Amino acid sequence: MSAQQLSFYQTTLGKKVVMAISGVILIGFVIGHMAGNLQIFLGADKLDAYAEFLHSMPAVLWGARIVLITAVFAHFWSAFSLWKQNKAARPRGYAKQVSRATTYAARTMRWGGVIVLLFIIYHLLHLTVGAPVSGYEIVHGKVFNNVVTGFSNPAIAGFYIIAQVCLGLHLYHGVWSLMQTLGLNHDKYNDTRRKVATSVSLLITVGNISIPVAVLAGLLSNT
Ligand code: HEM
Repeated sequence: MSAQQLSFYQTTLGKKVVMAISGVILIGFVIGHMAGNLQIFLGADKLDAYAEFLHSMPAVLWGARIVLITAVFAHFWSAFSLWKQNKAARPRGYAKQVSRATTYAARTMRWGGVIVLLFIIYHLLHLTVGAPVSGYEIVHGKVFNNVVTGFSNPAIAGFYIIAQVCLGLHLYHGVWSLMQTLGLNHDKYNDTRRKVATSVSLLITVGNISIPVAVLAGLLSNT
């Protein structure tokens, strides 16, 4: 097959663009979700009313869920095909790992991504479905109490905190690579790229971690 016959998705750039677009959708969700969740600091009434508001629009909720699920699949699939493509191009691996020029975040993308995916599955079973995965029963609609009861268990809070650190590292390298895919691939942009990647990943990590930490510190308790 000649190069011209490859579909856009089949090219490395095509896969990277799919990864970048799905990544932007997922980052948008994570920021919006975090902003919504931070209302926990405004009290149970505010957070529960916010959740009720979201659930009062099933068409919007399901529309957003379908977009998110599609983005997760597209993101995972493009990452997997790029990995397979790289492996096929270098079946024996490097004689010596050259990792000096890359960051820890870049080297942990694959496993960090898998941990984030496992976290999302656990998280959905825990707080959305209410499956018996956390040792207590959630009450649908009582989001504040569901979250506080969960994070009062140090094992659950600890797992969430570790997952947020993995997510933060994943986002750091993700945002960095995203800007490269968008064309900001020049030494003169590196400083800006580093600042943007650090700000986005730190904002999300600190914002999310503040919730289990506040519960463990006794700043938030059940109503
Ligand atoms: C400490 C951090 C987090 C807290 C306290 C939290 C809390 C919650 C709660 C309470 C729900 C259920 C809301 C409801 O039923 O009304 C939920 C749903 C969800 N969360 Fe989180 N979350 C956190 C982090 C994350 C992260 C990092 C992700 C993704 C990477 C995520 C993805 C989701 C998804 C996909 C849903 C399902 C939304 C839906 O109903 O379709 N969450 N979260």
